[in-house]
Amino acid sequence: MSPSSSETVRATAGVVAENGDQITALFYASMLADHPELLRLFNKGNQATGEQPRALAASVVAYAGSLIDPDAPSFHHVMQRIAYKHVSLGIKPQQYTIVGHYLLGAVGEVLGDAVTPQIAEAWNEVYWLFATQLIAEETRLYQQAGVDASHPLRPYRVVRRIDETQDVISLILEPADGGQLPAISPGQYVSVFVDLPDGGRQPRQYTVSSTALGPRLQITVRRVRGINGAPDGQVSSYLHDAVQPGDLLDVSVPAGDFVVQSSDGPLLLASAGAGITTVLPIVEHIARTQPKRTVIVAHADRTAQDHALRETVLHVARELDDFTAYTWYETLDPGNDRSRQGFMDLSEVPLPDDVQVFTCGPLPFMRHVRSTLLARGIPADRIRYEVFGPDLWAAQIPAEDRGDR
Ligand SMILES: Cc1cc2nc3c(=O)[nH]c(=O)nc-3n(C[C@H](O)[C@H](O)[C@H](O)COP(=O)(O)OP(=O)(O)OC[C@H]3O[C@@H](n4cnc5c(N)ncnc54)[C@H](O)[C@@H]3O)c2cc1C
Ligand code: HEM
Repeated sequence: MSPSSSETVRATAGVVAENGDQITALFYASMLADHPELLRLFNKGNQATGEQPRALAASVVAYAGSLIDPDAPSFHHVMQRIAYKHVSLGIKPQQYTIVGHYLLGAVGEVLGDAVTPQIAEAWNEVYWLFATQLIAEETRLYQQAGVDASHPLRPYRVVRRIDETQDVISLILEPADGGQLPAISPGQYVSVFVDLPDGGRQPRQYTVSSTALGPRLQITVRRVRGINGAPDGQVSSYLHDAVQPGDLLDVSVPAGDFVVQSSDGPLLLASAGAGITTVLPIVEHIARTQPKRTVIVAHADRTAQDHALRETVLHVARELDDFTAYTWYETLDPGNDRSRQGFMDLSEVPLPDDVQVFTCGPLPFMRHVRSTLLARGIPADRIRYEVFGPDLWAAQIPAEDRGDR
């Protein structure tokens, strides 16, 4: 970035951050009003709860910070996460011009006369530096996956539907074109696009919960129920209520960097609720490729009956030489003396010194896991996480803990 823009961004980053929510709310409202076709791309639930505007605002301000502060934590991981999400949604380079127009327009409108031409120019530079890097990374990821960004989806046929628990189903999918599955790293997700009964179309991300089914892949979906007057989850309800074997779903290429590296080090997989969907494919992969590797799984759920994929994980783990499982349930059945009652508490669980941690579940759960493990001396760069929503985590963890970025 040019030195004069750097100075301007340094001087105005605070005020842009303070007004970030307002800027992004206005940006989305005006962009979606003028480009209603984008409603089929953006997650309506995240718009309603404001999570997506906050994630975008936080990322732009954090990126500006990384440009002006040589000591800022590496931005690589955030960039990767956004690029993967965009690729799973089929975002195209030309759409950056639309987003830039409305985002920079909203900065001008919210900050009003405070925005001099010099300030507008400096933030334009920040946006396009960010956009250029994202476009380059997304182009690389499309190429790597052998996908044309103008046709990013492939129809998959639902071949089987399994009731895992009262609120969780698995759908087994195979490419409807008769072709092969793409390469899937365990822990990656796909975006699934559904045509809803109201005529709308919506994408959601689902982890590939098993990659051990030959030419098929599996997703496992928890039904999201609305609480305190909020509506039930749109796509999860639709998948539960309407989708049957024989139906077709549009599915993206696998995406995401929540992927275990093939070192020999011990692994702790700490999950809660729907986060279990990341555990099974990782355990399957280790059983297939490194059965001597130490694996510890720790899972928290409301009750044993809500704990999806439990038996499947235990079954696959029989092929591992060194496997331990811990469970915590908020409500424990009488006589269940193998599980612990309450929320997950990793303070007493024996862990090898060099353990690598992969954690997936609701944000408060992951924050708790992380602070317990940091207190036990596990360095932040050995703790990886996956958020099942826009990545607010990056914006919310204290700066001193961001060693994993
Ligand atoms: C990388 C990744 C991997 C994932 N993997 C899985 C997985 O393996 N399994 C799985 O089950 N899920 C997974 N998810 C979550 C999944 O993508 C969906 O977010 C989830 O299924 C909910 O989608 P929905 O359409 O049912 O809910 P939405 O309709 O998106 O609603 C989400 C929430 O917003 C609330 N809401 C919606 N509209 C309003 C409103 N107007 N006012 C107030 N509140 C509102 C709803 O009550 C609900 O609590 C993953 C997400 C990500 C990002
Ligand atoms: C520099 C420009 C951009 C930035 C900084 C940016 C940033 C982000 C961020 C931080 C997320 C959330 C990622 C996560 O889940 O953790 C996101 C998701 C998303 N982005 Fe972008 N983005 C940009 C450009 C675009 C463009 C050009 C489009 C296309 C219209 C787009 C469409 C989307 C969609 C549809 C999502 C998912 C929304 C959801 O799930 O609610 N983005 N982006």
